[in-house]
This record gives sequence, C-alpha cells and structure tokens, in this order.
Amino acid sequence: MEKILVLDFGGQYNQLIARRVRDNRVYAEILPYTASLDEIKSRGYKGIIFTGGPNSVYDESSPHYAKEILDLGIPVLGICYGCQLISWMRGGEVKTAPVSEYGKIDVTVKKSSPLFKGIPEKSVVWMSHTDYISKVPEGFEITGTTGDCPCAAMENAGERIYAVQFHPEVTHSQFGKEILHNFLYEICGCCGDWVMDDFIEKTVSSLRKKIGSKKVILGLSGGVDSSVAAGLLSRAVGKQLTCVFVDQGLMRKDEGDFVEKTFTSLFDMNFVRVNCQQEFLSKLKGVTDPEQKRRVIGTEFYSVFWNEIRKENDRGFFAQGTIYPDCIESGKGDADVIKTHHNRVKMPGDIKFEGIIEPLSELFKDEVRAVGEKLGIPKELVWRQPFPGPGLGVRIIGEITAEKVKILQDADAIFREEMVKTGYEKNLSQFFAVLPDVKTVGVMGDHRTYDHLIALRAVTTDNFMTADWAHIPYDLLAKVSNRITNEVEHVNRVVYDITSKPPGTVEWE
Ligand code: XMP
Repeated sequence: MEKILVLDFGGQYNQLIARRVRDNRVYAEILPYTASLDEIKSRGYKGIIFTGGPNSVYDESSPHYAKEILDLGIPVLGICYGCQLISWMRGGEVKTAPVSEYGKIDVTVKKSSPLFKGIPEKSVVWMSHTDYISKVPEGFEITGTTGDCPCAAMENAGERIYAVQFHPEVTHSQFGKEILHNFLYEICGCCGDWVMDDFIEKTVSSLRKKIGSKKVILGLSGGVDSSVAAGLLSRAVGKQLTCVFVDQGLMRKDEGDFVEKTFTSLFDMNFVRVNCQQEFLSKLKGVTDPEQKRRVIGTEFYSVFWNEIRKENDRGFFAQGTIYPDCIESGKGDADVIKTHHNRVKMPGDIKFEGIIEPLSELFKDEVRAVGEKLGIPKELVWRQPFPGPGLGVRIIGEITAEKVKILQDADAIFREEMVKTGYEKNLSQFFAVLPDVKTVGVMGDHRTYDHLIALRAVTTDNFMTADWAHIPYDLLAKVSNRITNEVEHVNRVVYDITSKPPGTVEWE
C-alpha cells in the first residue's frame, strides 16, 4: 500500500494534513520529528510532508531534523514551519517579519510548477506566520509570492522538494485540496489505493488469520468506535466474538435496548448485556461532587465489566475500539509527551488474554464512520453524537436518583425527537437536555407547582475544544419547551443555555 509520512513538528494541523491526504485515497501516517531516519527509510514512503510548527527555525529548542532526509530521493512537501525548515536545512535565509501575515491572503503562483498544475495564477490561501524566507537556498526557485511574503512557495523540481508558506490543508485555502492532490499524484506518483472497501476486506482477512479458532471479547459501549469494531470482528469471526455491553442505566432513553437489538439482530456474535442501574445508583447515593461522580461511575463500570469477563473461562483475544488519533504520538515539545490513550483500558493483573486486537487503530473518525456505513451499522449509531462515558450522570447536577434519570431521559428524548423530525439536527454538533438540581415555582391550571427545571444545550463546533451555542429558531425551542412541560411529569420550566465554550464547557459537569 502507498504511504505518505506526515512528519510532525508540532503544528496544530498535523492530523488535518493526514486526513486531507487520506481524502485523496492515499494512506498517511503521522510520526513525531523524533522518529529516526532509519525508521523513516525502512517504511517505504512515497512522499514526506513536513508539518507546520509554533517555533522559529533559529531557536535552539526548535524541532529540527537530520538534513539527510532531503537526500533520500523521496519527494518532500514543507508546509509553513516545514517550508522554513527546508530553507534552513539547505542554507537559505529565514527572517522575522515586523508583522505577522495571518488569515486569508492573496497569492500569485507559477502555473508551470507541477504543484500548482491546473490551478489559477491568483487565488486565496490561509497564512499564519511571522518568520519568512528572505533568500531561497541554492537550486530552489520561488514559485509563489504574496504582497508581504517574497517567498510564499519554492521548489527544487529536480530533487522533488517543494515548500509552501501557507496551509493547503485548511479549507480557507481556495485550491489547497488541488495542491495536495498535485503533490500526491503529480509529484509522488501515487495512484490512490486507500479505499474503505479494500480496508474492510483486508482487515477481515487479517483478523481471521490472527484469531484463528480462538475467542475474542469486546467491550461495547454503543459509541461509534466500539460499534464499528464489533461489526468488523463479527464479519471476521462471527460467534467467536463476545460483546459485553454494560448498561449502567445512565444512557439516553431506550438506547440500551436499541444497542442490544441492533447487534443481536444484525450481527452474528454472542451479546452479553449486563443491566446494573440499581448497583450504580446505590454506589452514587449521596454523591454530588462532579469529579467524585465521574470516579464512582468509572470505577463501578470497570468493576462490573471485568467481573463479567472473569466469567469467561476461554477468553482468547481482547479487542478495543481504539482509533488512530488515540495512538498518535505528538511532535510537540519533548519526545516523551504522548497523547493520552483514553480509549485504551487498563487491564487487571489477574485477567490474561492471548493478545490485544485494535482493528480501527489506523483510522480517523470519519473513516471509522465510512467503514460502519459499509458494514450496515444503522445511521443512528454510525453518526452518533459524542456521549460522555459517565452518561447522563454528568447531565444530572447533584445527587443522581432513578426519578431524576427518568425525567431527564424523557425530556432529552423529546428534544431529540423534535430536532430529528425537523431535520434541524444536521445543523448541530451536539445537543441534549440537562437536569440542574433546581426546583422553581410554576402554575398549572389553578395550582401552584414546585418542580424541576430542564436546561437545553446545543452547540456547533469542529473539534469540541471550543464551541458556539447554537442559534436554534425560537419556534423550534418553543415547541420543545411546550412538549417537555406538558409531557414530562415534574418539569414546570425549560431554559436554553446560551453560553459558548469557553467560558462554559459543553457538558454541565
Ligand atoms: P466538555 O464538557 O469538556 O466536552 O466541553 C467536550 C466533549 O467531550 C465530551 N465529553 C466526554 N466524552 N467521556 C467522554 O467520552 C467523558 O467523560 C466526557 N466528558 C465530556 C462531551 O460530550 C463533548 O462532546
């Protein structure tokens, strides 16, 4: 399979670059700049992309790389910091400009460059830099300029080394997609063999080979990743797979039943559902601190899960829905700064398996979804919004009780139903109801009521690191509010959360 290396120098768009390459049907993997030259040589890359980075190439502490990487004969594309790094490695000059060039900028490129084949001479690109190349290295020619940047692009076509000061991976760069496509197909000579159908076929056959006649156990949460992993494993080994689904009673309304029905009716596997709402609620009695709640739910979850696994005397392999972003080592800072592998669970010492299987560890989330759709997993699961591990536990403020869970599930289901019915959910990244521990006075008929408040939360975001509150039309909010106060017992008031992140977080706890 063709492979492109994205060599990570700490830029914020490193994953985006890899995803854009894969959008072009070419497999890309990310390595930190601390990866050795021997390792890079041994992996047979068709091309290498140097990412951006927050530094200046002249800082001693800046990430650099052995200059020999440019002599391997593998095509290279430098982006932003990566562009300056190439200049620095080959003896060009990099200077600090008095003002940064930031945002959408007009660029003029040489159409004769293979990197800019088929794109207009003038277009808009996304820039974010202060340092710039004041003199290109010997053997390089300038192939792009902007009003403030004398070298917005340069190349040494003979050696197949290309560099752009701007960010082609960001959608604000008008022809960024075409530029990356040109690098992959015109310069690296890729033919595009990264296709999801092939991925399924190859993965299923390698899973069969690895598992043989042994068993596999997978913890199924009902989230996208574990569901797709279950789908793949089921296709590979059918009944040799056992999925353990711990339903702590803190999922959305009817969600546990939906997960069970989906996997028992659509897939060949052993499905074990452990219903344990009572145990969870008794452990959560009197607990009101958000962090303590998370701890109790997490500890109880794994205690139930591992106890279930202990019952299996023939365990075979342990499978997990780990995806690629969980595995990438970041190029930021020191080599030992590694992204937390939050999807990888710690195993108790007394539980032994033949080995671990992570069938999705090469895929980004959107690729996981594409595989899920091809496997016939229902859209509700494949396109499921993020749902916190502790479930509704972090959406009920204060002590969690069975009554509060029921109220929240009912209110949330109405919110969801209306958003789906009107199609408005397509505009939202995440939306849900929250039950603050607040009662307010209301009036129903001629009677005074003193009942719960429901808060509605809906956000739009690309990445969940920041988020905007969603401007849902008033009529729609009114409909949801009317239905909740009419249909959900013990709710007499509904409010809408108009806080973005920051300063709020998406979840209330
Ligand atoms: P916050 O509340 O931190 O949430 O702005 C950002 C995104 O993360 C989700 N979230 C979680 N996901 N386990 C998860 O798997 C958790 O404990 C958890 N807490 C928050 C949240 O729903 C949002 O999408």
